[in-house]
Amino acid sequence: MVPEEARLLMSTLFGHRRPLLSPSILNADFARLGEIVAELEAAGADAIHLDVMDGRFVPNLSFGIPIVRAIRQRTTLPLDVHLMIVEPERYLDAFTEAGATALTVHVEATVHLHRTIHAIRERGVLAGVALNPATPLASVEEVLPFVDVVLLMTVDPGFGGQPLIPAMLRKVERLRRTIDAAGLHCLLSVDGGIKLSNVAAVVQAGADIVVTGSALFQDGETPGIQLRRFRELVTRAAR
Ligand code: DX5
Ligand code: ZN
Repeated sequence: MVPEEARLLMSTLFGHRRPLLSPSILNADFARLGEIVAELEAAGADAIHLDVMDGRFVPNLSFGIPIVRAIRQRTTLPLDVHLMIVEPERYLDAFTEAGATALTVHVEATVHLHRTIHAIRERGVLAGVALNPATPLASVEEVLPFVDVVLLMTVDPGFGGQPLIPAMLRKVERLRRTIDAAGLHCLLSVDGGIKLSNVAAVVQAGADIVVTGSALFQDGETPGIQLRRFRELVTRAAR
């Protein structure tokens, strides 16, 4: 894909409704990944969020390139790949070839962020930057015009199932104001601890993309039913 096609993909796939729901499969039964992805697609997911962890940037290992490739075979949805790995620039070709639609790198994990963003875009993939809770918004200010997604972590990355840090909602509001005031096109994604009980607050704070993980696999319900519940709540909150 050339960069122009990627922009077009973003306006069609990522632009048809807001907020978008990007379910994370981190807490799924990995023996049933294919079925679960199909169920999430049928339930109206806008993308599938894939959490790649290296045991160095975060104190946990999850999965890597083969799982991204396998999921690419099971869905036509955009694959929103969240790289919680050091030196993500070393793996851009591999994740692109595996079928990523968007590659999100952590600002804390790459020394030359501007170069990494451009390297992602040159591959025809949407470029995202992610910030840990303790990382100030100023650390991405200079690159905002060049990114497609800014992902704010509302938990310290590494594990599903942690509680959302309430103070992060103010950070989401501040970034929303910055993006709107500058007329930027990047989407604001929020990731970590989002439940049925707090998703309305996340949307009201300004999220364009809502990432939901463990909440989809709780309450004894299927992920498809839980995702539909999220859809109802985000639609109502966005009005
Ligand atoms: C955390 C990951 C999240 C996680 C979300 O490090 O980046 O995407 O899967 O899971 P919950 O919603 O349980 O916090
Ligand atoms: Zn994530």
